Amino acid sequence: MIPAKPINLFEYETLARKHLSQMAWDYYTSGAWDEVTLQENRAAFNRYRLHPRMLVDVSQRDLSTTILGQSLNAPILIAPMAFQCLADPAGEVATAKAAAHSGVGMVLSTLSTKSMSEVAIANPYTWFQLYIHRDRNLTRALVEYVYKCGAKALCVTVDAPFLGRRERDTRNQFVLPPGMELANLNHLKGKDLDIPYRQGESGLFAYFAEQLDPGVTWKDLAWLRSLVPLPLVVKGILRSDDAIRAVEVGADAIIISNHGGRQLDGAIATIDAVSEIVAAVGDRAEVLMDGGIRRGTDILKALALGAKAVLIGRPVLWGLAVAGETGVQHVIEILRDELSLAMALSGCRKLIDIDSSLVSRKS
Ligand code: FNR
Repeated sequence: MIPAKPINLFEYETLARKHLSQMAWDYYTSGAWDEVTLQENRAAFNRYRLHPRMLVDVSQRDLSTTILGQSLNAPILIAPMAFQCLADPAGEVATAKAAAHSGVGMVLSTLSTKSMSEVAIANPYTWFQLYIHRDRNLTRALVEYVYKCGAKALCVTVDAPFLGRRERDTRNQFVLPPGMELANLNHLKGKDLDIPYRQGESGLFAYFAEQLDPGVTWKDLAWLRSLVPLPLVVKGILRSDDAIRAVEVGADAIIISNHGGRQLDGAIATIDAVSEIVAAVGDRAEVLMDGGIRRGTDILKALALGAKAVLIGRPVLWGLAVAGETGVQHVIEILRDELSLAMALSGCRKLIDIDSSLVSRKS
């Protein structure tokens, strides 16, 4: 049954399917290979149990926080996701406006279908997610361009030296429909990059193999740091030794992520990596996580395990597909309301009340 007005994020997903082409739906939903990690990201949350505290005055709750110096109304950011014009003609601009209106963070993908200059007007607090291309002059020009546009942080994704194999995209020979472009890259003078059509292949897989640099190492992060004076965020960390190296090269924040189960299938569920990485990093960097957040209680668990905030991926695309900017705003509002209620029911008035005693893992 198709819900009239969605009351949770799962209902948004059901509704969104009707608004998307088969190619877009498959691209948005799929994970790599057998989609084990995609499913694990959700299943793992159910292995954590909450230990609520009673008889606390929870008549007022404060969900606000500060991430890299930016005040947010809730510990939520919108994850970088490519090709949002597949969901709505206003694409990333609509998402950015919704984030600004809701007081949550926004990260724009390198592969966005609206440019950083357009998005920064819609939301001056946007971070930029970077894929390091083989062409270092292009990478440098891209970083300088987003800095000039007013990006507030550089978020480098480190889990994609190649694209994970998403078999539905291979089957569909994924390409962008006519009229949609790689808005940031095509903004750079003299560059004309496209997602190529390849028979029997996902065009995005081919783009990664041809354009992105699989030889990137920690040294390149130091190079990135030298380009522009922006906070550096490292996205895609799943191990504490990597988190420590990220801190050593000067990362201001780390995002624990397996790319929504779209890269290495069989990789650990992100919620299972949080406490170890938080313990290793301490207060040397802010630790965020993403992957499978669909309920306010998921956010409560992530924060209780030590994450400072979470990023939301696919549900934002569902909101965008169903009702554009308003849909994204509603998705965020639902999550925020659920978190607020979950905090009340577990005796938390503020985010700092959400401590590790609230959560345990079933063996
Ligand atoms: C992504 N993700 C992603 N990450 C990134 O660093 N750069 C990108 O361009 C994209 N593009 C992208 C497209 C789509 C359609 C999806 C679903 C995901 C990964 C994203 O930032 C995030 O890590 C996950 O989506 C989080 O998991 P959930 O919330 O979707 O389960």
